[in-house]
Formats: sequence, structure tokens, C-alpha cells
Amino acid sequence: MSDSQAGDLPAIEGGAPVRAERLPFFRPCHGEEEIAAVVETLRSGWLTIGPRTHEFRAAFLDATGLPHGWPLDSCTSGLFLALKVLGIGPGDEVVTTPNTFVSTVNVIHHAGATPVLADIEEETFGLDPERVAAAVTPRTRAVLAVHYGGQPCRIEALRDLADAERLLLVEDAAHAFGAEAGGRPAGSFGEAAAFSFYVTKNLSTGEGGFLTCRDESLEEEIALQSLHGMDQGAWKRYTDRGSWYYEVKRFGYKFNMTDVQAALGLVQLRRAPELLAARTRAAERYLANLAGEEALLLPATRPGARHTWHLFVPRLLAGALRVDRDRFLAALAAENVSPSLHFIPIHHHPAHREYFGDRPPDLPVSERFFKTCFSLPLFPGITDAEVDSACEAVRKLLRHYRR
Ligand SMILES: Cc1ncc(COP(=O)(O)O)c(C=O)c1O
Repeated sequence: MSDSQAGDLPAIEGGAPVRAERLPFFRPCHGEEEIAAVVETLRSGWLTIGPRTHEFRAAFLDATGLPHGWPLDSCTSGLFLALKVLGIGPGDEVVTTPNTFVSTVNVIHHAGATPVLADIEEETFGLDPERVAAAVTPRTRAVLAVHYGGQPCRIEALRDLADAERLLLVEDAAHAFGAEAGGRPAGSFGEAAAFSFYVTKNLSTGEGGFLTCRDESLEEEIALQSLHGMDQGAWKRYTDRGSWYYEVKRFGYKFNMTDVQAALGLVQLRRAPELLAARTRAAERYLANLAGEEALLLPATRPGARHTWHLFVPRLLAGALRVDRDRFLAALAAENVSPSLHFIPIHHHPAHREYFGDRPPDLPVSERFFKTCFSLPLFPGITDAEVDSACEAVRKLLRHYRR
């Protein structure tokens, strides 16, 4: 359908919607191979941590080129465990970004440390190294950097800063499986990095995560603490070589991956190039289709970076439209295109006002970004026609609401 056929009156104001059927924000892309792998795993008798989890561990490290790490039940568990095994706790401050999912900051709280927010920069929407430097105090122990949307933040500069200030650097690589900065993989800059395999992520096991680390001894500690602190996991005890005896060496947690998740992960790892190519193709189609829209700022890729297009996040040019971003998103949904928003800044959440409420942080770039950003549907199975119709809806609204 062309722009003129769709009519110019937005559906939210009584016009005809651009799409007859709703385009969801995300559609899972697990196929017959994943289904077969899960069925085979169920038949194998290994439902929880077992041989497939160990196979997935090796395959993930091989695919990313990262030296050490352990599969877990989520990225959130990985971020928390990273802080624990690095010895971060009460009395310590951890500088992080407001432009993230809440778990990045919740884990700092759960570790007993204090989150400190520094502003983001306008190229990658990750932490601004200069603002991080300004936030460092004698109590700062670590920087927790997020690679937003699938491209690396200014992680090299953050590494330099961490070295100069003797800080630890942890990477929230939830969105960044396969991303690179200057030819180096996301996850290779920090002392530790946590990846997410949540359903919408570029590599998905439904729920799941992975914590990588530089130091081999940390890997042992992560493995130990992810399964109650027991010195040998159940999977070893119930093989022919196993025994009933184990010792609990730490007050550990229950963060292990299961073989069902690992079976999904192994297939997704094999499909990773195909899935990344599909995301990149859709992102490039959005970019070409929306180029030249003056009221829209399109996402850019940092020079030297490999963007994995976890998210496609344009911004509305401030003051260019007669409606604000919230109304624009409601109008887009009425055109049957489901948008999303990444993220509501951390300090806007009621729970987090414990840290920031009575002294709202000075975060002008984050505030500006939040007021204008929105996320368009992007997933490997999205068709060209779906991308085109989403663009048509965006253009229709920009035309109608232009000042
Ligand atoms: C930036 C970021 N960090 C951490 C997480 C948490 O990941 P998980 O759901 O695997 O715990 C997410 C999840 O969406 C995220 O977007």
C-alpha cells in the first residue's frame, strides 16, 4: 500500500491504519532445529545442568573468542555474580548508566554497593567516559558499562579510565553478543562481562545468560557460586564416575543453566551468522527507507564498530512535531505497528529513588534521549514488507504532525 492510499489522517484520529494486521515488536525465531534439539534433550534424560551445558560453554567461548566463563540462568545473575566474585560490596560505589534495563542497577543494590549514575554520550548512548571520570570518588570500585542496542559503548576509553583510576570494569553485554570495538569482541575489555539469552536477544535460549571473565581462577569461582558453592555439580555426581560426596565451599547461589536451554543455545550459535545477517539487513532497510526524514534522527554505527542490531532506535527531532514522543508512539500503535522504548531512565523508577530521589542526578543527555527515542520492530524473521510498512507508518505520522 502506498502512502497516499493509506490516507493522511492518523488512525488514532479516525483515519485508516497503514497496516490491517498488527506488526508485533518481536517474533521469536526458533525453528524446527531448535524444537528437535529440545526434544532430543528431553529424551536424553539430562534436564538440568549436564553434558549439553558443558558443550555450550565451550562453543560460546569459541564463537566469541573470550577466554573463560560459565553459562548461567540469566544475564542478571551474571552481573550480580560478577560483582560478588570481584569482591564488590558494602561501602563501594559502582558507576553505571541510567540508559539500561533495571537489572543492571538492581544487582549493584543486591551486592550491597551503591549505584552512581553518570550521563551517556550521543553516539552510542552508552556511558560518556568524561562523565564517568567526573563521578569517580575515593569510594568508587567499579564501572558497569552497558553496550546499548547491539553496538559497543566507548569501552576502550572506559578501560583506560579504569586502569588510570585502578577501578574494575564490568561489561553488561546483554545486547552485545557478536559486537566488536576496534576488532575486539564485546566482553574482552572488562574483568568480567555478562551476556543475555532472553527470548528477544540476538542469541536466545528463552531465559539464559553467560558470565565471561579474564581470569581463569574467576571462572572456577563463578562455576562454584552458580551452583550452591558445591565443589562438584550434580551432573558429575550422577555419572558412573560420580559419588554421593560433595563439599560446600561457599555460600553459593542457584544460577545454573539447564541442558534444555543449552540445547537451544547450541542451535542458535550455529545459526548466529544467519540471524545476525537478517537483523543487519532489516536495520539497513530501515535506514535506507527512513533516510532524509528531517524530523527523525537515525541510529549511527561508531567507526570501527560491529553493530549487531539488537535494537533499532530512532529519535524524534526535538521541537519538529506538534506531538510529543508518547503521543507519537500511541499513534504508531494505532497504525498497527508495535513500538517499544529502551529505556525508562533508572532514576525515574520509584524503587531507585532510594538512591537518587532527593538529589536528581544531572543527566541532560539521558533525559533528552529518553524524551525522543523509540524502538521499531527488529527481529530476524521480519519481512521486507513489514519493515516497509513500519516505515510508511512512521513517515505518515511525521508528515501529519510536522510543525
Ligand atoms: C541492558 C540489559 N542488561 C541486563 C538485562 C538482563 O538480562 P536477563 O533477562 O538475561 O537477566 C537486560 C535484559 O533485557 C538488558 O537489556
